[in-house]
Amino acid sequence: MSNIYLVGFMGAGKSSVGRLLARSLHRTFIDLDLHIEESAGMPISRIFEEAGEEAFRQREREALEWAFGVDHSVVATGGGAACDATNRGIMRANGGCSVFLDVPWNVLAARLAKDHEHRPMFTAAVEARRLYERRRPHYEQAGWTVALTGVESAEQAASLVLEALAGAPCAT
Ligand code: S3P
Repeated sequence: MSNIYLVGFMGAGKSSVGRLLARSLHRTFIDLDLHIEESAGMPISRIFEEAGEEAFRQREREALEWAFGVDHSVVATGGGAACDATNRGIMRANGGCSVFLDVPWNVLAARLAKDHEHRPMFTAAVEARRLYERRRPHYEQAGWTVALTGVESAEQAASLVLEALAGAPCAT
C-alpha cells in the first residue's frame, strides 16, 4: 500500500499532523527525524555538529528508503527532505502521495522564534526566510498542497489533509 509523506518547512506541523493522520487512517506513523536519531543514537543537532549536514542528508536518505519499505505508513519528513530530487523520487515511487503543508511565513517565523534550539538549519530569522524562499519551489512539487493559515489545530489540519487526499488511490 502506498505511503503518505508530509513535506514542508520547519515548524509547519508535519509531525503532529502526521501522527493524527496516521491514527485516522489506521496507518503506521513514522517520524523520519526520530528514526534518524534512534538509528544514529544521538540527537540531530549532534549529527550536524559532529559529522556535518552532508552526513545528516545521507542518513536522511537512508531513513527515507527505509520508510518507503514500511507498508501503509504516514511519514513526517524533515524540512530538507523534499528538497532533494532523489528523495522526491522515492516519495513518488509506488504511488506514494506527498502533501505539502503550506503554512504562511509569518506563522512559521513566530513558531521557529520560540522553538529552534534543536533545529541546526535555523540560524537566524533572515537566513531562515531565505532558506524558506529557496525551498518553496521544491515543496510545491508535492502531489498535494494543503494551505493552512496556522490558526487551525493539528486535528483540523489533519482533517484538511484527509479532505485533500479524498478520492486519491492512496488515501485509505
Ligand atoms: C531540517 C529540518 C528538521 C530536521 C533537520 C534538518 C531542515 O526537521 O530534519 O534539523 O533541513 O529543514 P523539521 O522540519 O521537523 O524541523
